[in-house]
Amino acid sequence: MLKRTSHRMPACAGTTNRRTLRTPSLRHAARWWIAAAFVAAIPFAGCHAARVVAPNPPLRAASAALYAIDIEFAEPLTRASAEDPSHYVVYPAATPTARAMIASATLVDTLYGRVVQLLVPDWFGDDTKDHLDVVVESHGVQSLSGGTTGDRSVAFRTGLEYEPTMRNLLDGRCTGCHDAAHPNGNYRTDRYADLLGDGIAPPANLIPGDPNCLLVRRCKPRNSMFILAGLNYLDFEMIRNWVVTYTARP
Ligand code: HEC
Repeated sequence: MLKRTSHRMPACAGTTNRRTLRTPSLRHAARWWIAAAFVAAIPFAGCHAARVVAPNPPLRAASAALYAIDIEFAEPLTRASAEDPSHYVVYPAATPTARAMIASATLVDTLYGRVVQLLVPDWFGDDTKDHLDVVVESHGVQSLSGGTTGDRSVAFRTGLEYEPTMRNLLDGRCTGCHDAAHPNGNYRTDRYADLLGDGIAPPANLIPGDPNCLLVRRCKPRNSMFILAGLNYLDFEMIRNWVVTYTARP
């Protein structure tokens, strides 16, 4: 069943918009207008907006799959340098000498050019590499502005699950507009069970394994919740990979 795409203004912005929009282009234009108007209204509406303007951390990392790691730099990168696997080192935090072989590095971030996906084929099908504390280092990747990004490193735990990684992400970015007091779109993001809810109409907004469920679609780069929540590309990757690759495990 197709989900209704009505765009209601949130309660905290003080207005409702129930116009029926007939053509897709009109609807598209209206979606942007409403999103822009909503963002402009935030300072006056007293919403607990989730948009936080903080400097990007030098390096962030998260699993994309059992054998793939996404890393996000603070700044845009040059493709040739970012895609050279010799710039990266990956090892378990407990055994720094046990370096994993990195088969490829791909600049997957189509919006900002900051997220690189590393493939670690040795880990394919090896469940002991899930929930593992891992360190990723980067050395001498060139930024788009010409300089080197130097030596960076970040530790993270492999795998994606609701508790605590996705809960922290969703609470930080979404819940200010999707909690009990502000269930915009009739949808709450502050509890696992509610994420599986229908919002304004069935089917469910989160369907484990489904890359086309509304939660994933709304968070895609340039789409409404990507913009309203101020998501980085890695945040979107984490939401999609959690829902699809990790079937939204709790
Ligand atoms: C600044 C406020 C704001 C933030 C932040 C925000 N949303 Fe929303 N969200 C809304 C509003 C308003 C609606 C209802 C209008 C619409 O559907 O666009 C909505 C609707 C939705 C819907 C559709 C509900 C339905 O059933 O139609 C989903 C799914 C959703 N948001 C997910 C998220 C996720 C996930 C995040 C965080 C990554 C997020 N939102 C961040 C304001 C926000």
